Amino acid sequence: MSNSIYTARYTFKDIIGKSNAIKKLIKRGKEIANSPSTILIQGESGTGKEVLAQAIHNYSHRKNYPFIAVNCGAIPSNLIESELFGYEEGAFTGGKRGGHVGKFQVANGGTIFLDEIGDMPLDMQVGLLRVLQEGYITRIGSNVPTAISVRVIAATNKDLKEEVSKNRFREDLYYRLNVIPMRIPTLRERREDIKILIKHFIKIKANKLDKPIPKIEEKMYYDIINYEWPGNIRELENYIENIVNFNGESTIELKVENNQYHYDIEKNIVKEDEMYVCSLEQLEIKAILACKHKYGKNVSKISRKLGISRNTLYNKMKKYSISLE
Ligand SMILES: Nc1ncnc2c1ncn2[C@@H]1O[C@H](COP(=O)(O)OP(=O)(O)OP(=O)(O)O)[C@@H](O)[C@H]1O
Ligand SMILES: [Mg+2]
Repeated sequence: MSNSIYTARYTFKDIIGKSNAIKKLIKRGKEIANSPSTILIQGESGTGKEVLAQAIHNYSHRKNYPFIAVNCGAIPSNLIESELFGYEEGAFTGGKRGGHVGKFQVANGGTIFLDEIGDMPLDMQVGLLRVLQEGYITRIGSNVPTAISVRVIAATNKDLKEEVSKNRFREDLYYRLNVIPMRIPTLRERREDIKILIKHFIKIKANKLDKPIPKIEEKMYYDIINYEWPGNIRELENYIENIVNFNGESTIELKVENNQYHYDIEKNIVKEDEMYVCSLEQLEIKAILACKHKYGKNVSKISRKLGISRNTLYNKMKKYSISLE
């Protein structure tokens, strides 16, 4: 593993997940790794867009050439053009002696990862479109075009189509980028992967922090499975690092708001749709068990959560032979 900024360190082996969505993503990624077509990766923050881009690069015949990541949202807009395409010596006052080699040229033979493409200012998008269409770059201050061979992978956590409809992103550039669209699912869309991700990160973090593998209590486990994870894998990874630091305790509270149970006591984890394909009596049993799991012997809390009286709760527990012991 190299620390060079020009090297991609992730491979498909680093993409952890058994859900159909992830398996499909990996399969597609491998299929198109050697294609020259532009990829547009869309996904919420922390879903693994950069990991996927690097994995695709490392699976392709470009893997021994540079992987250059450019954060389009972080470069001042007046510098984007010279950053991407370079400039000749004397192109403008304050320019470097010998000029400047742009990222596209540095990436030649390899991959350029245009991160946060949705944040690229409108007036800079024209130049990018031209390069994508023509396949060569021209340094600022030069009129000699240089042919380049660079795979372009763009990524954004914005809905680019919507940005187009609001006139914040050029429609022609959108279609030019969106030749191979790839959408990374959120973590809450693939809760069945959370379990192996926990295991994966616990091992990595315990190793990194030189700490023992902590035991995760059932209640915490329940919260991890049911939490919404707005920050996706990055948030989960950092949460696990916190737990490992505190030997299984946590100093970060996960607020589980909804009433949907994604955790089944007997089977550990079930898919949501499977969970609801059952009789209403079974559903009642599941709801009571889930509350017992969460609130222990606290009859008041359980009945309040279920929206029934304590008496009704006792009757139902009797009917289904559920005890709170
Ligand atoms: N499938 C995965 N398996 C294991 N770890 C993953 C996976 N996807 C992402 N990660 C981890 O999650 C973190 C975030 O990934 P990455 O930086 O690729 O997300 P991103 O989508 O680019 O986020 P942002 O939109 O905030 O830039 C990384 O530390 C990476 O190691
Ligand atoms: Mg990113």
